[in-house]
Amino acid sequence: MSKRDVLHQAPARAPPVHNMHSHFVSHLTLSNFRNHAALDLTLDARPVCLFGPNGAGKTNILEALTMLAPGRGLRGASLTDVARTDDVETRLQPWAVSARVSLDGEETVLGAGAERTPEGGVKRVARREGQPATASMLGEAARMTWLTPAMDRLWSGSAGDRRRFFDRLTVARATEHGQAAAAYERAMRERQRLLGDRVFDDAWLGALEREMSAHGAAIAAARVETLQRLQDAIDARPDGAFPKAVLALEGALESRFECGAKSADVEEEFAALLRDMRGRDAGAGRALDGPHRSDLKARHAAKNMDADQCSTGEQKALLLGLTLAQARALAADPGAGASLILIDEAAAHLDAVRRAALFEELLANPGQAWLTGTDENLFEAFGQRAQMFEVRDGIVRAA
Ligand SMILES: Nc1ncnc2c1ncn2[C@@H]1O[C@H](COP(=O)(O)OP(=O)(O)OP(=O)(O)O)[C@@H](O)[C@H]1O
Ligand SMILES: [Mg+2]
Repeated sequence: MSKRDVLHQAPARAPPVHNMHSHFVSHLTLSNFRNHAALDLTLDARPVCLFGPNGAGKTNILEALTMLAPGRGLRGASLTDVARTDDVETRLQPWAVSARVSLDGEETVLGAGAERTPEGGVKRVARREGQPATASMLGEAARMTWLTPAMDRLWSGSAGDRRRFFDRLTVARATEHGQAAAAYERAMRERQRLLGDRVFDDAWLGALEREMSAHGAAIAAARVETLQRLQDAIDARPDGAFPKAVLALEGALESRFECGAKSADVEEEFAALLRDMRGRDAGAGRALDGPHRSDLKARHAAKNMDADQCSTGEQKALLLGLTLAQARALAADPGAGASLILIDEAAAHLDAVRRAALFEELLANPGQAWLTGTDENLFEAFGQRAQMFEVRDGIVRAA
């Protein structure tokens, strides 16, 4: 074989899947993001496995990716928290994350970061193709779901954490859900301010309550749809390595939609309730009814046991099953599509059989998987079907 033939031979590794329905990051750069001064990664569609010792900067890379989705990333961090600090440079450094993302065969360049303002403050910047972008413009170009060890206590933790988790799942499917939630919160805060100041101005309060009820109904309807799509994705599968969950939303507006109520009726009832409860909410210092108080419940189907009563390992497995179901639900949704799955340290808690099952699921997902672990051996079952990177002190090199 001539030298030329050798050069043109297909590489020994499995060919990357660049099909029309795939979604993957082909290039990622970080600058001054946590312990990464400058990172530049060129990737193909295969799963990305990051391994290295504790404190190396693996989770930071996943976090950087999540800064490209609507919200504040997987740690819920502030703009200044993620800016790299070191002994020499203690001032805030502007940071940036940029990714070339391939979605259904089309490439988009997304960017997120913080810049100093002339007044000495910091402001968030988001870009798509170099132009200023809104959260939904980012969300449409980079769909992702993530799972971190911090979420291990989700089922036994606060309703607020579960609600935020579920709202993130909803935003991935319907990006406008994020704006509806923000508009609802704004109207609710304004109403509470008036009630707190004892300004019982009917027209003013009525206008805010109508806004709350319109956005509130949209929020509840979107959550109900997300739940149905998720449950369908879960139920479509036979029992496998991950336990199946039976999901339920606890919330008055959500329940009305589940009973088939019309949106206009739900809105009207909620506006009337808010009007009636002005005195009570004034006394309580907050609105006691509404979708801002809803909760997500899950039962372990095979054991018929509430998720919060399950063992730590079972709770984690339920969440992993839910994350995989979310990716399948998005892929099956004509309004959404393939999504990235980011799993921080998942492999470490799974036995070899479940780990292999997880990898097979991730390989079947049309979106790229990103995984972290302390040891390269954890990812052995992938063989050549994944790309491996070693992370050490904020330096990443292909393994
Ligand atoms: N703003 C920042 N500037 C510089 N370094 C930071 C900043 N925020 C966090 N770090 C550092 O980043 C390092 C790596 O964090 P990361 O959570 O990514 O580690 P990891 O590789 O996931 O480790 P583990 O295996 O323990 O989960 C930590 O040592 C942390 O102190
Ligand atoms: Mg970590």
